[in-house]
Amino acid sequence: MNAVRIGAIGYGYWGPNVVRSVSRVPDAELVAICDASEANRAKAATAHPSAAIVDSLDTMLGEHDIDAVVIAAPAPLHHSLARQALEAGKHCFVEKPLTLTSADARELLRLAAQRNLTLMVGHLMEYHASIEYLRDLVASGELGEILYVYAQRLNLGKVRTAENAFWSLAPHDVSMVLFLLGEAPDRVSANGASYLHEDVQDVVFANLHFPSGKTANIHVSWLDPHKTRRITLVGSKKMAVFDDMEATDKVWIYDKGVAPADALAYGEDLMLRFGDIRVPHIPAKEPLLVEMKHFVECCQTGATPRSDGLDGLRVVQVLEAVDASMRAGGAPVDISLEA
Ligand SMILES: NC(=O)c1ccc[n+]([C@@H]2O[C@H](COP(=O)([O-])OP(=O)(O)OC[C@H]3O[C@@H](n4cnc5c(N)ncnc54)[C@H](O)[C@@H]3O)[C@@H](O)[C@H]2O)c1
Repeated sequence: MNAVRIGAIGYGYWGPNVVRSVSRVPDAELVAICDASEANRAKAATAHPSAAIVDSLDTMLGEHDIDAVVIAAPAPLHHSLARQALEAGKHCFVEKPLTLTSADARELLRLAAQRNLTLMVGHLMEYHASIEYLRDLVASGELGEILYVYAQRLNLGKVRTAENAFWSLAPHDVSMVLFLLGEAPDRVSANGASYLHEDVQDVVFANLHFPSGKTANIHVSWLDPHKTRRITLVGSKKMAVFDDMEATDKVWIYDKGVAPADALAYGEDLMLRFGDIRVPHIPAKEPLLVEMKHFVECCQTGATPRSDGLDGLRVVQVLEAVDASMRAGGAPVDISLEA
């Protein structure tokens, strides 16, 4: 199969990681890197001397023969850059969030479908070996029925102004929750607060309600003393925690629970059960490299990416509902995710 010729757009904070991963995919050829900033173009030229360095997508599309683009530009530009690339017949990987409105996301999905192009969004956690492990654990029934989930993504910085902390940080958590539960929420409520910039929430607490009765809480903040990246699943049989701040032992499975009253001989209502803690060995893989390999493979074969445009749209729908609820003072907002 021919190598996929790739142009990268955006070489700021995250772009260098994406580009480095692309350069390590055996079936990819890094043809060009585009950035609007001269200083960042200079960094790209030093790190990737064999790639052409350009200052605009127009130049990249006009002067270089590429099959696909990977976009790590600021979120407000995702839609226009991806639309331009798709209209030029290029496969597209777009960093999260796919777009800033669901209408824009739908337009990208339509364009990609019309032209038979791959559209993939950077929901990185779906490519994390520990999250894959947790998904299989949930599916196996070992945890029992999942009752509720909560996720925390907290740190001091990186503060953004074009999007609030939920749009910046929570795409990862929302995509993880949808990926792990395999169910779409039907109601969302959220509270947030803006301390650093007017109308840009620095901290958000969001609740997702699911038709099965499950709930998920997502807490994000870039104004917090702790660096926390954790998700906890409470099941009817066992509980599990994924802690991305742990260097190696990231998943902990607790054989803890509450037995129903009929399991008791002595008349108490409920019995607490404390069992062993298991820390499975999960071979580490670089999620970003796995993600980029998957993108290249989908471009080559036409397979639907795990985090396809539809996945991106569904996450954007949740993010929009969270904003709507915050505008309504935390009132619940009904939601129906695109099927
Ligand atoms: N997957 C992750 O874990 C992760 C982590 C951080 C950021 N991101 C995402 O990556 C994207 C970039 O974030 P960042 O923190 O690197 O932002 P950034 O502001 O540091 O970098 C953006 C870069 O894009 C360049 N740029 C701006 N307009 C451009 C244009 N029209 N054409 C070409 N280049 C242009 C800027 O000069 C800058 O170098 C965002 O979508 C963000 O959500 C993802």
